[in-house]
Amino acid sequence: MSSTEGKVCQSPGCGKPAKLQCPTCLKLKIEGSFFCSQECFKSNWATHKAVHKAKIESQPHDPFTGFKYTGDLRAVYPLSPKREVPAHIKRPDYAETGIPISEQRVRSSSVIKVLNAEEIEGMRTVCKLAREVLDIGAAAIRPGITTDEIDRIIHEATIERNAYPSPLNYYHFPKSVCTSVNEVICHGIPDKRELKEGDIVNLDVTLYYNGFHGDLNETYCVGKVDEKGQKLVNTARECLEKAIAIVKPGIKYRDFGKVIESHATANGFSVVRTFCGHGINQLFHCAPNVPHYANNKAIGVLRPGHVFTIEPMICEGTWRDEIWPDNWTAVTADGKRSAQFEHTMLVTETGVEILT
Ligand SMILES: *[C@@H]1O[C@H](CO)[C@@H](O)[C@H](O)[C@H]1NC(C)=O
Ligand SMILES: *[C@@H]1O[C@H](CO)[C@@H](O)[C@H](O)[C@H]1NC(C)=O
Repeated sequence: MSSTEGKVCQSPGCGKPAKLQCPTCLKLKIEGSFFCSQECFKSNWATHKAVHKAKIESQPHDPFTGFKYTGDLRAVYPLSPKREVPAHIKRPDYAETGIPISEQRVRSSSVIKVLNAEEIEGMRTVCKLAREVLDIGAAAIRPGITTDEIDRIIHEATIERNAYPSPLNYYHFPKSVCTSVNEVICHGIPDKRELKEGDIVNLDVTLYYNGFHGDLNETYCVGKVDEKGQKLVNTARECLEKAIAIVKPGIKYRDFGKVIESHATANGFSVVRTFCGHGINQLFHCAPNVPHYANNKAIGVLRPGHVFTIEPMICEGTWRDEIWPDNWTAVTADGKRSAQFEHTMLVTETGVEILT
């Protein structure tokens, strides 16, 4: 029995028995669209095609359709629904709109804030909470867990501490933590992909508490990781340690890159140039800019009371990055792995205090 049985042509004023149904409508699962002949179908085309357009635009958009990945990792959609933050928790200005207005106001400024004693205490508190939450998230890492499940655990540990998960809705970032697996350099979005034995995964946790942001991240091995992967992770950790070792008043923000890049290259690895360390306080990201590569032109000299992050991203192959069509996930252009460690630190009169 034909599906046009008993149907009439929808061409205005025609009314003859239908003999065909629009093939595009069938593909798009649009009901109706019966015509008696190719002639009637064609004469209605100009108005009929609007039906297709409306249907396509109403469908949920998968940004990865037709995308050519640089490596083996795949985004696994759909994402879980947006997680809620209880009303009593103090939020940063972008929590509703996605736009960090207070940060944008000082975006072009290279003035580095000197925090007073009370502000430093605020930073100590939030950084300690961020450390607790990162450790809880890290303890959940195992083969088979999805990064979305890790996001849920971190979200809940954050709101339990009456803090807001800073990534959530920052420039519309959809989740409460960044999870960056293998070739993802940074800003990976937690999704339905399960971690596999041998993956490396970075968890980047930032909390907003009592008006301050505290930020740290670490790269973890999932089960047993091959030797090269372990060396990459260890080198990234050592790069951060070596950079922190030179922190004291009077040195320049541009000096870290040389220490980091020379240790990375000595081990056969490269250093990402697109993403840098940053100032952090009442704002999530602000001056100074802290590049991790040698011969950079960063502005500023370290002074007591400065609070900033160092967070070298070290790669197995090229340091060049590419952004996935989700507009966040930064991956290596050659699909090889990347590892990173980050601390938030305070410059003291004599050296450094690691806050995370
Ligand atoms: C680590 O934290 C910094 C600071 O927020 C961020 O810029 C960087 O992208 C994070 N790294 C990863 C792998 O998410
Ligand atoms: C990414 O950004 C482009 C350009 O601004 C925009 O058209 C697109 O919808 C964005 N994609 C997602 C998934 O947000």
